[in-house]
Amino acid sequence: MSESAPNFDALFATARRAQIRAYAPYSAFRVGAAILDDNGAIHSGCNVENASYPVGLCAEAGAISAMIAAGGRAIHAVLVLGDGEELVTPCGACRQRIREFAAPETPIAIAGPDGVRARFSLAELLPASFGPANLRT
Ligand code: THU
Repeated sequence: MSESAPNFDALFATARRAQIRAYAPYSAFRVGAAILDDNGAIHSGCNVENASYPVGLCAEAGAISAMIAAGGRAIHAVLVLGDGEELVTPCGACRQRIREFAAPETPIAIAGPDGVRARFSLAELLPASFGPANLRT
């Protein structure tokens, strides 16, 4: 368990390494994501596009898959890194993907090339969300 404050510098460095390897020949918009899990381990992902455009995967989805494959079961922090002037906040589908493994207060840091630009909680990005507990009848 990692109860201390997330090390966003480590998350940024990990996301940067993934962003460089992104496969984004169609949008040319490279994204890297890093996740801190409940074991204190950091997992990364990058966007992987496809000639059949809707089949492409977001960086966050890859990072979640890496976490689960490595044995992590809870997300303690997320950092998403993209280029450009705008904040690269997770898309709607990825907010829900993060929601499956994260508490409402989980920090989601949004970074540009020079570092973290903004920080949100999951609840700010996905209020009144639907999660595993909603299926318990
Ligand atoms: N993308 C991500 O990987 N994560 C985000 O949070 C936003 C968007 C990717 C999907 C696509 O490959 C490219 O960025 C342009 O939308």
